Amino acid sequence: MTDRKLIDLAREVMVNSYSPYSRFKVGAAIECEDGSVFAGCNIENAAFGATVCAEAGAVAAAVAAGHSGGFKRIAITSEGSSYCFPCGTCRQLLLEFAPELEILSARADGRYVSYSISALLPMAFGKDQMNSL
Ligand code: THU
Repeated sequence: MTDRKLIDLAREVMVNSYSPYSRFKVGAAIECEDGSVFAGCNIENAAFGATVCAEAGAVAAAVAAGHSGGFKRIAITSEGSSYCFPCGTCRQLLLEFAPELEILSARADGRYVSYSISALLPMAFGKDQMNSL
């Protein structure tokens, strides 16, 4: 799948965002090794801490469908004029399932940038540290 197609899928799900508090819609589409794609949007809550990020929704859908590893890329879109990058918690969540993940972040005007998860979360705490016991 092309970068552009994955970004389009993230943009499609973004319209379903439930974000009455921030009014900041986010969409995410994650591509698995076998080419399957799972999407998520942000879901806010009156108790703000219960908010679910778009990336977390996409990961949850993928894992629930039986894909608990081997994610290749994730595309993230927002309506903003700047790039939307995953929050710290989502970076950690993504690392768990995909230490080699590529992250595409697309602005409203369609321009996008690409980073590796290791660039966005350097010196991360992951499975390797636990396995070094
Ligand atoms: N949000 C995401 O869904 N993903 C991100 O990468 C950054 C932030 C959501 C959470 C909240 O609903 C809104 O954007 C504002 O923080």
